Amino acid sequence: MIIVTGAGGQLGHALLESFPSARGLTRADWDVRLPPPDGLAADLVLHAAAWTDVDGAEDDPQSAAAVNVGGVQHAAELGAPLVVWSSDYVFDGAKREPYLESDAPSPLSAYGRTKLHGEAAAGEEAWVVRSSWLFGPTSRNFVRTMLRLGAERDEVAVVDDQRGCPTYVGHLAEATREILDLPYGVYHVAASGDCTWAEFAEAIFAEAGLGTRVRRITSAEFGAKAPRPAYSVLRSTKGAPELPHWREGLRECLATLLA
Ligand SMILES: NC(=O)c1ccc[n+]([C@@H]2O[C@H](COP(=O)([O-])OP(=O)(O)OC[C@H]3O[C@@H](n4cnc5c(N)ncnc54)[C@H](OP(=O)(O)O)[C@@H]3O)[C@@H](O)[C@H]2O)c1
Repeated sequence: MIIVTGAGGQLGHALLESFPSARGLTRADWDVRLPPPDGLAADLVLHAAAWTDVDGAEDDPQSAAAVNVGGVQHAAELGAPLVVWSSDYVFDGAKREPYLESDAPSPLSAYGRTKLHGEAAAGEEAWVVRSSWLFGPTSRNFVRTMLRLGAERDEVAVVDDQRGCPTYVGHLAEATREILDLPYGVYHVAASGDCTWAEFAEAIFAEAGLGTRVRRITSAEFGAKAPRPAYSVLRSTKGAPELPHWREGLRECLATLLA
């Protein structure tokens, strides 16, 4: 039996499509801050449950850690091979060229620290998949937010001094099959190509046929609570699957969203 935690989230949804025989567990089925429910058995655990509110983690790092570290520890207690997802936010962004698996993490935010500690909590029989800027047709994400704002406004202000790889959850979920053929360890799996949030927003409006303008602003102007890396492009030197370009992911996502 394959188990997918976080089944109500955007990656969880995509994993259930890529692994149709898997059993999806939502928070109502198993709050991962607690040990696994009695009798829950698995041959493989795809652990997509996480605290993903990056700014909220600054206010309440302990609650974030209870999910992102404690939850991973509890998933490992099932004793089955485990896939956990981590984040480009384990890096500080100072490098300005693609981050490889061999680069030393140095998170800027409380969220990034919980994800880094969560990597360690996964144990030896685990694939740790670092990805970035996830989007898909469900849940809260940048694409859905831009479509909503684009329908309401002529202009949207978007940060233009953070560069990363917007990754379509459908592509990431499919790549998980290939990851299972690799040795346990840390892998970087993010979309090909890179852009800033402002460039991504422009592509979203163009692909969706919206005339909304993007006003490029700095992270300081936007004023988010948690600091983010200015540069967090992820690439692999360990043979991790290469994903399609982010623009292709965007088109696939919009094809579902706008259908
Ligand atoms: N989103 C990104 O941009 C991004 C980037 C890099 C890496 N990642 C990582 O990728 C993975 C998947 O992220 P995602 O974008 O799919 O996140 P998501 O859409 O926010 O989904 C996370 C899911 O986890 C569930 N969850 C939260 N706390 C829980 C708990 N205590 N017990 C059980 N379930 C709980 C949430 O349920 P509720 O809806 O009930 O809260 C939600 O369904 C995470 O490990 C995340 O850190 C995400």
